[in-house]
Amino acid sequence: MDLGIKGRKAIVCAASHGLGRACAMALAREGVDVAINGRDPEALARTAAEIRAEAAGVAVHEVAGSIVDQPVREALAAAFGEPDILVNNAGGPPPGDYRDWDRDTWIAAVDQNLLSAVELIRMTADGMAARGFGRIVNITSSAVRVPIPVIGLSNATRAGLTNFVFGLVPQYSSRGVTINNLLPGPFDTNRLRHSKEITRHLTGNAVAGRIGDPAEMGATCAFLCSVHAGYINGQNILMDGGLYPGAF
Ligand SMILES: NC(=O)c1ccc[n+]([C@@H]2O[C@H](COP(=O)([O-])OP(=O)(O)OC[C@H]3O[C@@H](n4cnc5c(N)ncnc54)[C@H](OP(=O)(O)O)[C@@H]3O)[C@@H](O)[C@H]2O)c1
Repeated sequence: MDLGIKGRKAIVCAASHGLGRACAMALAREGVDVAINGRDPEALARTAAEIRAEAAGVAVHEVAGSIVDQPVREALAAAFGEPDILVNNAGGPPPGDYRDWDRDTWIAAVDQNLLSAVELIRMTADGMAARGFGRIVNITSSAVRVPIPVIGLSNATRAGLTNFVFGLVPQYSSRGVTINNLLPGPFDTNRLRHSKEITRHLTGNAVAGRIGDPAEMGATCAFLCSVHAGYINGQNILMDGGLYPGAF
């Protein structure tokens, strides 16, 4: 299927590894120019080179730095002048016991997993609407549907982002802009490999018998950004291999 987005311009946050990288790769394969981001410039450059090798002819712009920092967000928003697609993503907050989280810990999580996305939407959505086409995809978590006790910071900030963006949909839908959330269950990324506490809670996917391949999320993201997905708006798309035990 031709997704109809060749030549479009995308911002993909936190895209040097894992799910963000998979989204950037899938979009680039469709001929979308991508501005990618991550804190480690060397990892970012490696991923940029891999995308260029995979998707000849697309422009890949690297913006190194934390998505929490406004200059980084401004550089991403300005990378192609008029972005058509925004994929909001960031690292997950640390696991732990809520009794240990002070105000600074909470503010850091809100900054990274809620306000960064809100700010990038603020910088890009009106331009998309004025041009009559826009796709915003937020990578959140299955924890929005089923909060995971050990990642309370994630449960709270992602729930906040979810409700915030739903409230935006009515003012953008008639102007060609969609805003949807992708909710990963357990996927095979560093996030899962490097945190024993999170892994224990997330990898027991007895229903699917496996964990997710990031490329599966990348392909879903690319479809949501396609011309065919213009009538999908304000949705929370759970990708957990059927782990969630309910129809709604
Ligand atoms: N994998 C799963 O099973 C799963 C399940 C539910 C939710 N999620 C959520 O999905 C998101 C992506 O997770 P992942 O599994 O793809 O993680 P990952 O493999 O660890 O990759 C995270 C990516 O984000 C970048 N990053 C982290 N913090 C950043 C920041 N402040 N600014 C810019 N870039 C940043 C990292 O690069 P640098 O370190 O170089 O910055 C890396 O490229 C996370 O929020 C995670 O909590 C994942």
